[in-house]
Amino acid sequence: MALKHSILQILEENREISISGEKLASDLSVSRSAIWKAINTLKSEGYDIIAVRNKGYKLSTNTDILSAEGISPFLEDNFKKNNIIVYKSVESTNKEAKKLCIDNRAHGTVILANEQASGKGRLGRKFFSPKDTGIYMSIILCSNMDISNAVLITTATSVAVCRAIRKVSNLNPQIKWVNDIFLNNKKICGILTEAITDFESGIVESIIIGIGLNFKTKKEQFPYEIKDIAGSIFESDEIDITRNNLVGEIINEVLNIYENLNDKSFLDEYKKLSFVLGKNIKYSQRNEWHNAKAIDIDSNGNLIIKCPDGTIKTLNSGEISVRRIIDET
Ligand code: BTN
Repeated sequence: MALKHSILQILEENREISISGEKLASDLSVSRSAIWKAINTLKSEGYDIIAVRNKGYKLSTNTDILSAEGISPFLEDNFKKNNIIVYKSVESTNKEAKKLCIDNRAHGTVILANEQASGKGRLGRKFFSPKDTGIYMSIILCSNMDISNAVLITTATSVAVCRAIRKVSNLNPQIKWVNDIFLNNKKICGILTEAITDFESGIVESIIIGIGLNFKTKKEQFPYEIKDIAGSIFESDEIDITRNNLVGEIINEVLNIYENLNDKSFLDEYKKLSFVLGKNIKYSQRNEWHNAKAIDIDSNGNLIIKCPDGTIKTLNSGEISVRRIIDET
């Protein structure tokens, strides 16, 4: 590991504490001038490192740069060895994840980017992914499973992301079927799950869970088309957690829920978090919107709806709208 990564790891693990140059040098078996040079390199990369006379170096609380070293202190022990790859900018982390799946089976690998040039959303849409203010991550799961379990992963992931947000803040996000996460009536997170399937056996070889989260994107940054619907977890500048912290908790929650996917107990939590159940909605079918009432979620994560003529339907994908009804009344 390059010296600057080792120093960063120590600073990230000891965020509140100053570490002297002497201690860093002796722990890492290098000279103090090597430490000084590496600290300057980190500073030039944007790390706000405070040097206090007679005390040493520490990372300023303002530093919020995504890195494997910054995420690691928040990971549960069994996930600390997972491969975490952080890019400054990519087209799409899901795309990078797919490339990795072709080369080797990389279960538990997480790919993050500080910015996406062409973030992919559901239904062929784009996901707005500006630099420094969001979390754009893809988690790779490799274990042969049938497609019905693969579908449940998306449902489980939305529960996992809500759990992670609650863990690091006092906020209570909610879920809009299928997997959009809302806070104060604004969408703060979208999830796009993609599967790599063996064509002959129909077995899903790898699943890529793409999670896009507006962490501190400002209202005025959102493009016109989404400005009424999109929001961020944090809207003020006074944030006392970092993106690394939330990413760490998301990884813990997603991998834990995945390991217990068969017990399906997260579905009860999903229902409690749903702000759609019991509401009049519109659902889209063949490019037309129809009225219905959302009445339940079944054991496969499908939405059960009641149509105006009393028929019951099961939706397993697509889009629903609660807002449309509100807009029209
Ligand atoms: C949606 O709301 O339509 C789903 C958005 C999913 C966006 C995430 S960001 C990380 C990952 N990489 C992508 O290109 N898309 C997903």
